[in-house]
Amino acid sequence: MLTSMNERFDIGIVGAGQLARMMVQAAISLGLRVRVLAESPADSAALVWPDIVIGSPNDPEVVASFAEACNVVTFDHELVPPKVLAVLTVQRATLRPNPKALALAQDKLWQREQFARRGLPVPRFHGVRSIEDVAAFAIETGWPVAVKTAVGGYDGRGVWRVASAPEAAELFASLPARGTNLIAEAWVPIDREVAAMVARSPAGEVATYPVVDTLQIDGICREIVAPAGISAHLSDKATALAIDVAKAIDLTGVMALELFVAGDELFINEIATRPHNSGHYTIEGCTTSQFEQHLRAVMDLPLGSTDLTAEHVVTVNVLGGPTGEDPRQTLAQALALPGVNVHLYGKSARPGRKLGHVTVLGENLEEARERAWLAAGLLTGERVESPR
Ligand SMILES: Nc1ncnc2c1ncn2[C@@H]1O[C@H](COP(=O)(O)OP(=O)(O)O)[C@@H](O)[C@H]1O
Ligand SMILES: [Mg+2]
Repeated sequence: MLTSMNERFDIGIVGAGQLARMMVQAAISLGLRVRVLAESPADSAALVWPDIVIGSPNDPEVVASFAEACNVVTFDHELVPPKVLAVLTVQRATLRPNPKALALAQDKLWQREQFARRGLPVPRFHGVRSIEDVAAFAIETGWPVAVKTAVGGYDGRGVWRVASAPEAAELFASLPARGTNLIAEAWVPIDREVAAMVARSPAGEVATYPVVDTLQIDGICREIVAPAGISAHLSDKATALAIDVAKAIDLTGVMALELFVAGDELFINEIATRPHNSGHYTIEGCTTSQFEQHLRAVMDLPLGSTDLTAEHVVTVNVLGGPTGEDPRQTLAQALALPGVNVHLYGKSARPGRKLGHVTVLGENLEEARERAWLAAGLLTGERVESPR
C-alpha cells in the first residue's frame, strides 16, 4: 500500500517475523497505526499487514528512513547491528527498548559481566578465544563446560556442551571464523528451565507475568506451561530478578528473563527485550497478551492485567516435520480437538522451523498438555507424545 509522505505512524516495528505478526494482531484492536520493516514480502508479518516497507533491517540508511515517519520504533528481534543503533540515536528516533538494552540483550558476554557486577546470580563464566582458554576454565569448574557464541546464537545454535579438552579442540576446528567471541560457562545441573516476563513503561509502571516452565529439546523451546510448577519462594525470587534486571537496563516494552533452576538455586541464563516464545501462551492465557502489553508499554499507555485466564495454560510449538508438510493441510484435524487454539505464522514449511504454536487452557494440567502435544503433532504430520 502506498502511504502518503506526511502520514505519521504510532509505532514502527523493525523486523517482520512471527513476533511482529502477533504484535500487529494486537495493534488492530487498539487502533494503533503501525508500520513494519520487512526484509521480504514473504516475511510472516509482511504477509498480513498493509503498511510495510521492504528493506534490510540491518541497513542503517533503510532503517533511518523507515524510522523517520514513526513516533516510536521497536523491534521484533534484538540482533540489531550497532551501526543501525548509532544512526537511529543520532537521528533522535525514540527507540523502545533503548539502544543500550538492545545491545546488552544481543551480547551474552557483556550481559553476564553486567549482571555479575550487580551481584545477580549467573553461572560462572569467562570469555574464551582458544582451546587453552577453555581448558584453563575447566580446571576451575571441572568438565563439562558450556561453550557459546557471545553474539548471534538462537534456538541452541551456538551453544555446545564440551566434556573434555579433545572435545574443545574438535569444536574449535569446526568453528567457521577464528576470533569469534565465545563464552565458557560452568555446566549447570539444570532441574528445569523457567522464564519470567516483565513489562515496563517509560512512566516506570511495571507488570509481571506468572513464571512459566519452558521445556527445551535440542536447544529449542518446545513447550511452555503456566504457571511453573515451582515453589512460591522460587517463583517470587524469579519475578524479583526480572524486575531488578528491567530496572537496571531501563527497559521499555516487555522482556523475558530465562532462568535455570538447579535445586534451590536460580541462575540467570539470558534476556530477550521483546515479546518471547515463552510468552505466546498469554494470547489466550492471560488477560493482556505479551504483544498487547509490549505495544502499551512502548506507547507509554497504562499496562494491562497479567492475570491467568485458566488454572493451567500449555503452549506447544509447531516445528516443521521431517517431510516438510504444510501444517495447514491438517488444520481441520487439529481444530477438531476441543479447546485447541491454533496459531500459524504463514511461513514456508522446513524441517525444524518454528511454523506456529498451539495453546490449550484447562483445569487439569496433564490433560491440557496431552491435547496440546496431540494438536501440534497433527499439524506437523507426526504423532508426538508429550515428552515429560
Ligand atoms: N551453562 C549451561 N549449563 C547447562 N545448560 C546450558 C547452559 N547454557 C545453556 N544451556 C542449555 O542450552 C540452551 C540454549 O542456551 P542459550 O544460551 O539460551 O542459547 P539460545 O540463545 O540459543 O537460546 C539453554 O536453554 C539450556 O538448555
Ligand atoms: Mg535461550
